Amino acid sequence: MKLFQTADYDSMSRKAADFIAAQIILKPDCVLGLATGSTPIGTYQNLIDLYISDHLDFSRVKTVNLDEYRGLSGDDVNSYHYYMKENLFQFININPDNTYIPDGTDPEPEEMCARYDRIISRLGGIDLQILGIGRNGHIGFNEPGDVFHVNTHCVDLARRTIRDNRRFFPCEADVPRQAYTMGMGAIMNAKKILLLASGKEKAPALHKAFCQPVSPRVPASILQLHPDVTVIADFKACEELAPFLKN
Ligand code: F6R
Repeated sequence: MKLFQTADYDSMSRKAADFIAAQIILKPDCVLGLATGSTPIGTYQNLIDLYISDHLDFSRVKTVNLDEYRGLSGDDVNSYHYYMKENLFQFININPDNTYIPDGTDPEPEEMCARYDRIISRLGGIDLQILGIGRNGHIGFNEPGDVFHVNTHCVDLARRTIRDNRRFFPCEADVPRQAYTMGMGAIMNAKKILLLASGKEKAPALHKAFCQPVSPRVPASILQLHPDVTVIADFKACEELAPFLKN
């Protein structure tokens, strides 16, 4: 794992956007795996700025998102479809036909999940997967458990995740209890992974992910087995990454 420490959230966001921009410049028709949540919002804003200043062209880029809440349609302000439109897609020249997000309202969820994996395979896999990390070590919505799930699947969200994501909803009862998430297969098959983290509340999760044995109890720990992982995190999130800070 390669670690870039930054002073704060804003510099993390700028560096992450530069990293993603380099990928798009090197391979204009690349497949980006995208995350939602608070962490990448600044990164997406920087990518928008690069597009507006004519430094970046998304016309051939394809995207696959990590996850979506079960039961939320694309018009729901809390859906990840809505988030992507509001935070990135509507401001750049990406072709909407080249953007993929699991469908939270599909009446045949198993078929939808299988289809999602087929889409990722048909695109040739992911060139660069962007990840945030949950305080419980989840990536996408792969929650702590007894096994690593390979394929896109439906998950029961962990109580901690429901509590953490409550801030986006009017009250905790409104937070969906289930979600669809890309599995570890597509994430680990990505050619490159970029994990972003900001704030001291992410420090224990980063420690467990990279300084302790690989375990499905800490889903992000599987990244130790990936050959090309870059972490861009601010000082506060890096507080417990001592082995990496020495190098
Ligand atoms: C969302 C996702 C999640 C988040 C994680 C951190 O698509 O994949 O794993 O990255 O829950 O969320 P924030 O960034 O809100 O702390």
